Amino acid sequence: MCGIVGYIGPRESAGVLLDGLKRLEYRGYDSSGIAVLKDGRVELRRSVGKLERLAQEVLKKPVEGNCGIGHTRWATHGRPTEQNAHPHLEGGVAVVHNGIIENYLSLKEELLKEGASFKSETDTEILSHLICREIKKGKSLEDAVRAALKHIKGTYAMAAISENEPDKIVGARMECPLILGVGKHEAILSSDIPAILDITRHAVFLKDGEMVTITKEGAIVTDFDGAVVKRPPAFIDWTPLMAEKGGYRHFMLKEINEQPRAIADTFRGLVVEETGEIFLNKFNIPLKEIERVYIVACGTSWHAGLVGKFFFEEFFKIPVEVDLASEFRYRNPLVTKKTLVISISQSGETADTLAAIREVKRRGAYTIAVCNVMESSLTREADWSFMTHAGPEIGVASTKAFTTQLIALYLLALYFGRTTGAIAAEACVGLIQELVKIPKKVEKVLDQAALIESLAKRYFHFRDFIYLGRGVNYPIALEGALKLKEISYIHAEGYAAGEMKHGPIALIDEDMPVVILAPRDLSYPKMLGNIEEVKARGGRIIAVVNEGDIEASQRADDVITVPEAPAFLMPLLMAIPLQILAYHIAVLKGTDVDQPRNLAKSVTVE
Ligand code: AGP
Repeated sequence: MCGIVGYIGPRESAGVLLDGLKRLEYRGYDSSGIAVLKDGRVELRRSVGKLERLAQEVLKKPVEGNCGIGHTRWATHGRPTEQNAHPHLEGGVAVVHNGIIENYLSLKEELLKEGASFKSETDTEILSHLICREIKKGKSLEDAVRAALKHIKGTYAMAAISENEPDKIVGARMECPLILGVGKHEAILSSDIPAILDITRHAVFLKDGEMVTITKEGAIVTDFDGAVVKRPPAFIDWTPLMAEKGGYRHFMLKEINEQPRAIADTFRGLVVEETGEIFLNKFNIPLKEIERVYIVACGTSWHAGLVGKFFFEEFFKIPVEVDLASEFRYRNPLVTKKTLVISISQSGETADTLAAIREVKRRGAYTIAVCNVMESSLTREADWSFMTHAGPEIGVASTKAFTTQLIALYLLALYFGRTTGAIAAEACVGLIQELVKIPKKVEKVLDQAALIESLAKRYFHFRDFIYLGRGVNYPIALEGALKLKEISYIHAEGYAAGEMKHGPIALIDEDMPVVILAPRDLSYPKMLGNIEEVKARGGRIIAVVNEGDIEASQRADDVITVPEAPAFLMPLLMAIPLQILAYHIAVLKGTDVDQPRNLAKSVTVE
């Protein structure tokens, strides 16, 4: 997820662009840049690292002009370097882009054959070449953008300027947000509301398949065929901070609601529904020689690893051990040159996880990182990385990073299984087709937010909770308990439901709510038994069940439903209501939801 801005008007555009990018820094902050048009020339200023570095660069080398575009980056294709920073400039055309161009490699090959040369590793640079090619055929900037986008498969919010047409910005939107701020004799384009509020509170929210052409005379919105779209601006009455959170009260709630997009972005461009093919970067690991897999992580990422074990043993047919990084590194694990170690980390900076990977590399193992932050320490330590595309996760409690980690592990396991023949290619078709349905199913779970919020009102005063799950959902019981305890400070334990008789059932009484995960899978009859056990001892039950469930729902005190899905994808759906429940209980408790006490977003100490 990145942030883009564009400005035309009487003000110096550099200052407006920098202020706008500052307001969008939560969308990505590993590199940034601006391009400003002055006397028919585009001046670029770009820098790696926080936006402050770019501001210093502009201070050192000022750039004048009233028309410009800017970008703050969350790297998805190409490392965070100055060369990969946006805007990308080709033949006098500067482009900024948020999104993923799925077919950029084939387009790049086509352009290389035409003699194009590329300066970056990014997918976005394609756009500047395609637009430039169209302008050379005599098209206006807007027609050139329109023609260029017809070649693009993927998602984008983009903006472009050209030396051929000073004082004009053209923007377009497909699945990534793009907002036009309409001021008096000035206009601003942005990925999100915060960046426009200093200029105007009147905004037009572009829809998929719409473009906008901005000049000093004003702005025209059209569809991709050029038909004018008339939509009056809306008035935005948010404060800038409210706007950074997209109108949500906390980053955590915003990130919970970003999960459909984050999940879709993580598998986008990697799978072919019709054939079940999975395109991952070539790990030159002799997969057929691998005898053991370790999955190593901390906290929520460790819970993802526990789910991942099911995927790898089912699809890749190799024994998997999941370890807490802080335990793994001190227990002298059996590691050989035929061991594969998969580390999972949202931040890529967790000290214990980094130490574990360094140790196994020393012992000759192959290493893969599942990570959300490009160029983080873990991605540099591991031999290969599978990047989740959750975008920046600001709330300390991990939500969208967790569900995208599950997607990454699912795809890795399927890819390994299919590559080694451990799973038949035709079996992958159905598995991929079910995966692609998940974002919509997550949206259906998110639609239950109001019901879950009402549940929180009935339960937030309790002091202890137990979460029960079985099989692939046992890790989700652990995750749900962690979510609750880390943001509401209420004691909560996740337990394998089959363990109840071996101790925890002694805890059950009317003061101990029990959250029971009871999807309609092989363990469903056993979960009904757990529900009876708890009820017989006066416990209160919140059951998370599939839509249409009867038996569990009749017995529970409260019920949350999730859509049906294959057993291995159910954890993705079961995790969401537990995130929302923890969030609303914490809000009712009055804790600092985004920065809970004693915690940090990245535990860089052991
Ligand atoms: C999860 O909500 C917590 N913030 C914490 O357990 C976190 O998952 C853990 O510290 C690991 O962080 P990482 O994924 O960045 O390595």
